[in-house]
Amino acid sequence: MDKMEHPEKILNLTIDGKQTAVKSGTTILNAARKAGIEIPTLCHHPALEPYGVCRVCIVELKRGKRSRIVTSCNFPVQEDGLEVSTQSERIKRDRRMVIEMLLARCWSSKVIREFAAKNGVTDTDLQKTENEECMLCGLCVNVCRDLIGQSAIGFESRGADRKTSVPFGKPSDSCIGCGACVYVCPTGCIKMEDLPQERVIERWKSEVPILVCKSCGKGFGTVKQLEILKTKNPLTKVYLEKCPACRERELAEVMVRKGGI
Ligand code: FES
Repeated sequence: MDKMEHPEKILNLTIDGKQTAVKSGTTILNAARKAGIEIPTLCHHPALEPYGVCRVCIVELKRGKRSRIVTSCNFPVQEDGLEVSTQSERIKRDRRMVIEMLLARCWSSKVIREFAAKNGVTDTDLQKTENEECMLCGLCVNVCRDLIGQSAIGFESRGADRKTSVPFGKPSDSCIGCGACVYVCPTGCIKMEDLPQERVIERWKSEVPILVCKSCGKGFGTVKQLEILKTKNPLTKVYLEKCPACRERELAEVMVRKGGI
């Protein structure tokens, strides 16, 4: 973008009465963090585009006598003089309702129960779903599609039956077993296990062959991961056969032999 034609604007806003200034386009969540104000989040991940699904990060925006509720993780500051409240009575009431709904859906999730308790909600009168830990935030779907470029996971069905799944509930060839979905899942409901020969992600019915280090015999990623990496980077044979720890150790040994260190 041509900075002469579109100079970056600095905008002033107050958050819970605290004055701060941010670049135009900064999300309210990041503006609050910059001002040292904590807003609870669940479906926000810094590596991914915010989609504003869980709604626990809601804040109230005031302009004169008018106010509205927005999700702070994906709402950009684009005008001067915004007044933001992260703890108004309306926000406390609405956020509590959102958390109760999450708690009812994910009653089996320790992460959600702890998150709810931290935010003052320890129980709910809503009907609880048993054995459900997925909050349907879609981070797994998004990371697989947007960062890994595989689109192995998606959403299935609607309403109460909605869930994340692999196409037709069958193991997907597109799953490379990278585990990105496991790392971004806020509730920890996607489990991954490395067996001697394969990496298993039970939720997706994935069993992907493990890449075994020729030197130490330990697994270091999956064969499919490496195949994808090879298409993006010219890798030497040692990268294909040895794990990072062994490569590092062997390099250090070579340097010692040559008197380099
Ligand atoms: S963290 Fe903003 S909607 Fe989930």
